[in-house]
Formats: sequence, C-alpha cells, structure tokens
Amino acid sequence: MSRLSPPARKALLTLHLVTSLGWLGADLVLLALGIAGLRGADPEVVYPAAGLLVTYLFAPLSVLVWLIGVASALLTPWGLLRWRWVLVKFALTTVMLGLVLLLLTPTVRGLGELAPALTTRDRLDLVIPPTVSSTLLIIATVLSTYKPWGRMRRPAAAGAIRRPVPAGRR
Ligand code: HEM
Repeated sequence: MSRLSPPARKALLTLHLVTSLGWLGADLVLLALGIAGLRGADPEVVYPAAGLLVTYLFAPLSVLVWLIGVASALLTPWGLLRWRWVLVKFALTTVMLGLVLLLLTPTVRGLGELAPALTTRDRLDLVIPPTVSSTLLIIATVLSTYKPWGRMRRPAAAGAIRRPVPAGRR
C-alpha cells in the first residue's frame, strides 16, 4: 500500500528521474572524456577533469540514486522485493554503487594525478568502466519503462494480483 499522497509520490518520482538519469548523463560525460583521452587529448586537462567529475558529481549521485531508488520502492505500492523489474534494478544499482565508490573513484582520481605519464592501458580505465556502467543504466531505464517479468511469487488466490498504478496515471 502506498504511504504517500499522489502529489508527494509524483515529487519523489521526479526526484528519482532527475537523479538517476542525471547519473547516466554524468556517466556518458566520463565516457566522452575517456574517449578524448584515448584519442590523444591533453591528459593534463582530461584526467584531472574526470577526477573532479567523479568526486563531486558521479560518486555523490550514485549514493543519492540508491537512496532515492530504495525510497521510491518502499514508499509506493511497488515495494522493493515484490516485482522482478524493481529487484533487478535494485541489484544492478547496488553493485554499481559498490564499484563506483570502491574502484572507479580511486582509479579515476589516480589517473588525474599520473596524467602526463599514462599508458594506453591506463587510459582504457576511463573508457571500459563507463561503457559498462552506461549500458547497465540504459538497461535499468528500459526495465523501468517496460516493467517486465511480473511478480516475485505467485499470489495465494487467482485475481489477487493488482499491478500498482504508475505515478503518471494517477
Ligand atoms: C536502488 C535502485 C532503484 C530502485 C529500487 C528503483 C525503483 C523504482 C520504482 C519503485 C519506480 C516506480 C515509482 C513510482 O511508480 O512512483 C521507479 C521508476 C523509475 N525508475 Fe527506478 N529504481 C532504481 C534505480 C533506477 C535507475 C538506476 C534508473 C535509471 C538510470 C531508474 C529509472 C527509473 C525510471 C525511468 C522510472 C520511471 C518509470 C515509470 O514511471 O514508468 N531507476 N524506480
């Protein structure tokens, strides 16, 4: 059961969309910087800029997206563990949050410090991870709009399933 009034639910959904799709946008900017670095753009500009972007935008957004995503599930009739599309998004976002905070952020900040001496192998660290994470975020977006795969477990009685009404149709 929803614990939010319809206006509050729309406000939460708006916040969820701005943060999660903003996260995807920031990820694509990181990828663009990574490709520029690989193609020979000035490393002393590209990698410190990527370090700032990761530190002040991408990493904080990853925490916000996780928190607001979990709130969007728990405070609406969707729930966190009821629908497969929500659970898969939760799992994807949780894995990404861990990788961003534990791996990507220190690696990209390190690239900024080593900028003049970077090898091609080092530069790929700003191409491959953002390619994978942008793909995962596009998958999360598609799961959100198509909402595939139904509920986690079968209901006790036929007809007991009622799909929650998306916020926009209220
Ligand atoms: C912890 C991770 C996440 C959880 C638990 C979660 C959960 C949810 C829930 C429950 C809704 C429905 C809200 C409502 O009807 O009021 C929703 C909507 C949506 N989410 Fe997420 N989300 C997460 C992460 C993401 C990410 C990473 C993206 C994309 C990059 C994303 C994109 C969307 C979109 C586009 C919608 C709107 C779908 C619609 O209204 O038809 N979410 N999310």
